[in-house]
Amino acid sequence: MSRAKRKLEHIEHALSTGQTGNAGFDDIRFVHRSLPDVNVSDISLSTFIGELEISSPIFINAMTGGGGKATEGINQQLAEIAAEVKIPIASGSQMSAIKNESEKPSYEIIRKTNPNGVVFANVGSEATAEQAEACVDMLEADALQVHLNVIQELVMPEGDREFKGALNRIEKIVSKVPVPVIVKEVGYGMGKETAAKLNSIGVPIIDVGGFGGTNFSKIENSRREQSYSFFNEWGIPTAVSIAEVNAQVSHENRGVTILGSGGIKTASHIAKSIALGANAAGMAGTVLKWLQLEGLERTIDRLYDVLEELRMIMTAVGASNIGALQKAPIILLGETKDWLDTRNIS
Ligand code: FNR
Repeated sequence: MSRAKRKLEHIEHALSTGQTGNAGFDDIRFVHRSLPDVNVSDISLSTFIGELEISSPIFINAMTGGGGKATEGINQQLAEIAAEVKIPIASGSQMSAIKNESEKPSYEIIRKTNPNGVVFANVGSEATAEQAEACVDMLEADALQVHLNVIQELVMPEGDREFKGALNRIEKIVSKVPVPVIVKEVGYGMGKETAAKLNSIGVPIIDVGGFGGTNFSKIENSRREQSYSFFNEWGIPTAVSIAEVNAQVSHENRGVTILGSGGIKTASHIAKSIALGANAAGMAGTVLKWLQLEGLERTIDRLYDVLEELRMIMTAVGASNIGALQKAPIILLGETKDWLDTRNIS
């Protein structure tokens, strides 16, 4: 099957099969404050992704490009949404544009449509430092995402089977590209061991890309007869993953930014991600679903609603800014608590 066809199938399946799972946010509870001593109008949503200051703690995570006019159209709409709501947008993996010039316009449309916004380029960890730099240049990107997707490759018969040397390549990318590097998972999460490795090579931003949202195992398995169904429930739930990575980077105290993603659907998920230690949260599948099923205007409205709801939650916990929300007391319950207890993370 051609790469372009696979990309279009991913989009189709992401709207159906690929959106089930438990990211663990129901296990997180805020402690209500009856005297929050803050006004809704005082709430500031501004935050930092590395050194990039952004006005709201959400971004549209990597999805597409490289599938001809179809993915170009989706990227154009996603970029319009990002420009309107003033939130960062990540490109889908640009590796196909590195291999094939004719695929570039489907990515470049993001920067064309959103000339002044924050844009993230995207490559896989198989990229060389030169390829990564070319992807940053292609979008005049403000940061570069490097995705880790071992399970997604394993479930595809034509996928990669060689994963040695990725950390070494990422280290070269970090030292070569002129923008901050975000290392991200794609729905399987990262644990403290992975965070420690990324820390050791100076990765400044980690996007946990946890389990509980888009599920590439289910997407890939549903497309073929022979299926590795044991990977359908594989991964570290997003809430757990943020807590694991936060424990590791706080311990090493290197000022690493954590981004929460994987199954982010509501303002409550974003607030809980921040309270667990993230600076911002990424949404991929949910934004795609809104866009495909309800259209561009409604997706913009929904994102504005999410930001307004976030202000309400912050007011209820007495947090006037993102830093204060990160310190808001939370209660951990259920499987999330069991997981973190077993891993000795408090
Ligand atoms: C993705 N994702 C993704 N990630 C990446 O780094 N490069 C890519 O090219 C893609 N492609 C892609 C296509 C489609 C259709 C979807 C839905 C997702 C993964 C994405 O950025 C994110 O990490 C996961 O989808 C988990 O977040 P959600 O979807 O649960 O919010």
